[in-house]
Parts: sequence; C-alpha cells; structure tokens
Amino acid sequence: MRGRFITFEGIDGAGKSTHLDWFADALRARGATVLRTREPGGSPLAERLRALLLSEAMSITTEILLMFAARQDHLDTVVGPALARGDWVLCDRFTDSTFAYQGAGRGAGSEHIAMLERWVQAGLQPDRTYLFDLPPEEAARRRAGARAPDRFEQEDLDFFGRVRAGYALRVQQDPARFVTIDARQDIAAIRAVLQGSIDTLWA
Ligand SMILES: Nc1ncnc2c1ncn2[C@@H]1O[C@H](COP(=O)(O)OP(=O)(O)O)[C@@H](O)[C@H]1O
Ligand SMILES: [Mg+2]
Repeated sequence: MRGRFITFEGIDGAGKSTHLDWFADALRARGATVLRTREPGGSPLAERLRALLLSEAMSITTEILLMFAARQDHLDTVVGPALARGDWVLCDRFTDSTFAYQGAGRGAGSEHIAMLERWVQAGLQPDRTYLFDLPPEEAARRRAGARAPDRFEQEDLDFFGRVRAGYALRVQQDPARFVTIDARQDIAAIRAVLQGSIDTLWA
C-alpha cells in the first residue's frame, strides 16, 4: 500500500494540534502506519532551527531561508524515508504556512517562496491538506486560554487576517488538494468531518 503525505494548516489557535492525534489514530484504525510530525521541525536539526525561528528576531529573508533549510532536512531525513517505506505522514504545518505567514502575513510575496518550494520539494506536494479556517478573533480567544504566545503568536489580528487570506489564495490555486474545515464548529463536529473524509484518502 502506498503511503500518503497529509498536512494540517491554519492560523495559530485554529485547532490543528487538537485534531492531529485523533486523526492519526483514525488512520491507524484503518490499517495505516502513521508518522506524526511537524514543521518547522520534525528532525533533530530542524527542531534546532525551529527554536531559533520561534524566538529570535531576524529579517524576513533569513526567516524564509531558515524555514526551507529546516524543511530540506525534515524531507531528507524523516518525510522522504517514511513515504518511501509506504508510511502515512501526518504533518502539522508545511509549505502553505510559509506562503501564508511569511508571504502574506509578513508581506514577502510569493515569488521567492515559490522558487524555494520548487527547489526543496522537487515536485513533492501533500496528497491532502486540511485547512482549519477560523476568524482571527476567535483564534486569539482560544489561544489566550491555552498557552503563552511564541514569536508568531504575538502578532496582531491584522496579521492573522492576512495569513488567513494567504491560505485562501493557496486553496484557490490548488483546490483539489485542500479540504477546508469551518473550525468554528465544536470538536465533535470537526471530527465527524474528518472521519467522513478519511475514506476518500484510499480512493
Ligand atoms: N473546535 C473547537 N472549539 C473550541 N475550542 C477548540 C476547538 N478546537 C481546539 N480548541 C481549543 O483551542 C485551543 C487551540 O487549539 P490548538 O489545537 O492548539 O490550535 P493550533 O494547533 O491550530 O494552534 C486549544 O486550547 C484547544 O483546546
Ligand atoms: Mg498547534
């Protein structure tokens, strides 16, 4: 059985992490061998780059290059080998986040990111991306109850509005890859949507 590369996307607080473990278990119940990972990070070197990205001030160009340096190592040492084994890879954020956060949120535009995407991914794209779509105001309320903010999560509502729009543009450009989830729903309703979409992954 061929593995699949599945990514979860959405602004901070939209519910990605809440649903990842459950989704991994649902896939395992269907017989898949699942590797759960995240970006930036997911390999020892990339996790060290993540720590820098989440804490240090840097230029937008440096930020984009570090993101893709981390991504290259993660793909080379973790994601690529897992997919080659036939495992299912479930990743919390991937390149759509770079387009949405650095490209749209920070205003870097998509040109250089698209160039790095072609170079680093060499044609690899997720088989499916679940986009958790939530208004920034509600995401901020949920985050406030949950954790201390990192460097990205300290951004204001306008920033997350641009990130959300950046994600919407990615969906427009590749609609077949995305399942957009209205994350205003409660957790049980979202699980039902995810459960309902699992069968189509075997198609
Ligand atoms: N559908 C939901 N309704 C209400 N609260 C939610 C929902 N999904 C997640 N949460 C809560 O919102 C907060 C942020 O969720 P989280 O999964 O950490 O988001 P993300 O990983 O996308 O940043 C957590 O406290 C989580 O329990
Ligand atoms: Mg999370």
